[in-house]
Amino acid sequence: MIIVFESRTGNTKTIADKLAEAVQAQGVDVEVKRGRECEAADLEQVDAVAMGGATYHHDLIPSMKEFLFKTEKADLEGKPGLAFGSFGWSGDAIDIIQDTMIHLHKMDVIKPPLKVNAWKPESDLAEIGELAKRIADKLK
Ligand SMILES: Cc1cc2nc3c(=O)[nH]c(=O)nc-3n(C[C@H](O)[C@H](O)[C@H](O)COP(=O)(O)O)c2cc1C
Repeated sequence: MIIVFESRTGNTKTIADKLAEAVQAQGVDVEVKRGRECEAADLEQVDAVAMGGATYHHDLIPSMKEFLFKTEKADLEGKPGLAFGSFGWSGDAIDIIQDTMIHLHKMDVIKPPLKVNAWKPESDLAEIGELAKRIADKLK
């Protein structure tokens, strides 16, 4: 699978790295990339895609929006997907990513998305092992 993210201060990157570790522990091959380094073809070549982005001003971080435009025509229909991100108080970016995965890419999205509160990340990150198992089960 591939985990694509954009992060300004590193909190969403930390989630991406922890998710990669958890998924790897389930025996799944995983690559982690920033949106600006990732092309539509990179998503088409893998069996599952997680997309993460930080929330700023009730919106998705602009670099991740550019990534979503870049992958507009990617053929991802039916592919397992997960949205995630770090947030402070509203977390709009994660819902924006998940909506795009559902409505534009027509992916098989795992719900709920992984929303990690930046001020108390530990409790939200506690679910990551269980989430990784659900992803691995979809790929069996
Ligand atoms: C200027 C600014 C605006 C922000 N706006 C929001 C917001 O609208 N909603 C929210 O949930 N968090 C907001 N945050 C909090 C960030 O989402 C939080 O710090 C997050 O951990 C940043 O992720 P990153 O380290 O991956 O960039 C804002 C933070 C800053 C500095």
